[in-house]
Amino acid sequence: MRNFLTTLDHPRHELQSLLDSARNFRRQPHQDVLKDKSVALLFFNPSMRTRTTFELGLHQLGAKAIILEPGKGAWPIEFDDGAVMDGEPEEHVREVAQVLSRYVDAMAVRAFPKFQRWEEDREDKVIRAFARHATVPVINMETITHPCQELALMLALQDRVGPTDGKKFLLTWTYHPKPLNTAVANSALIIAAKFGFDVTLLCPTPEYVLDARYMDAARAMVKEQGRTLTVSHDVESAYRGAHVVYAKSWGAIPYFGRWADEKPIREKHRHFMVDMDKMRLTPDGLFSHCLPARRNVKVTDEVLDSPRALHIDEAGNRLHVQKAVLARLLANR
Ligand code: CP
Repeated sequence: MRNFLTTLDHPRHELQSLLDSARNFRRQPHQDVLKDKSVALLFFNPSMRTRTTFELGLHQLGAKAIILEPGKGAWPIEFDDGAVMDGEPEEHVREVAQVLSRYVDAMAVRAFPKFQRWEEDREDKVIRAFARHATVPVINMETITHPCQELALMLALQDRVGPTDGKKFLLTWTYHPKPLNTAVANSALIIAAKFGFDVTLLCPTPEYVLDARYMDAARAMVKEQGRTLTVSHDVESAYRGAHVVYAKSWGAIPYFGRWADEKPIREKHRHFMVDMDKMRLTPDGLFSHCLPARRNVKVTDEVLDSPRALHIDEAGNRLHVQKAVLARLLANR
């Protein structure tokens, strides 16, 4: 493994091997496998879970985390090649990535889309530039996908559902007052498809269907596994038979940059909130969410506080799966 940028780059057996390694780290949290290593964690956006688990996980493996917030305590960075840098950025990613590579053994990047032009955001320019110019491994801490979250979810699902092949996974859009990143939705879709679920994507209108890159990848993966991918706009039929309900809110891609036009559609679909009436349509289905989650907007207290909810387990697993990724990437360096 050279980098960990998206699970699309890795076959199921390789991801399963990371999950098995994560179980080992869960049993034995303190292992000196990264003794004297160091990893730069670059946060272009806020975080609670990701920052805590990477920083703590590195400490528990004997390594040091260096937290950098470009534009806030570290110089703002330019990513366009050939740019005339007479604006805000003080240095170019070409220098940042090469210089950090002289100091640290790996770097991890969180860089959300700008939410103005999806055609630009879908290029994942920031992390791709780090991966191109760094000479050490690069890890995605959430850009337009969230691969560490995917592993944490799959570990929680394997613990609670057992074998995932042939089970039904419902990815449901939920209301949120703001248009959010599609990263976790893209990720939930592709990890469920890769691990053999029959997948349903439930969203208000066809405009909320995810980017073709992830839809096409999920379609190819379910076909390979002999499973199905269904897009639905009907809440009741989508919930029926679901073994897992995964909730996330995201902005509709055709409305990138003109969110005022999207708002009336989103406001009409507040009823997509996950509640116990919907969960009762499932065969004791489980619920999860990547967090942070707005209670009684995205999902009710009753669901979050019920034994069906595994969002806390999923969040807890972030610590273990990221150790597995770090140990794998840095093992022979
Ligand atoms: N789920 C997740 O990545 O949480 P944070 O945004 O708090 O890191």
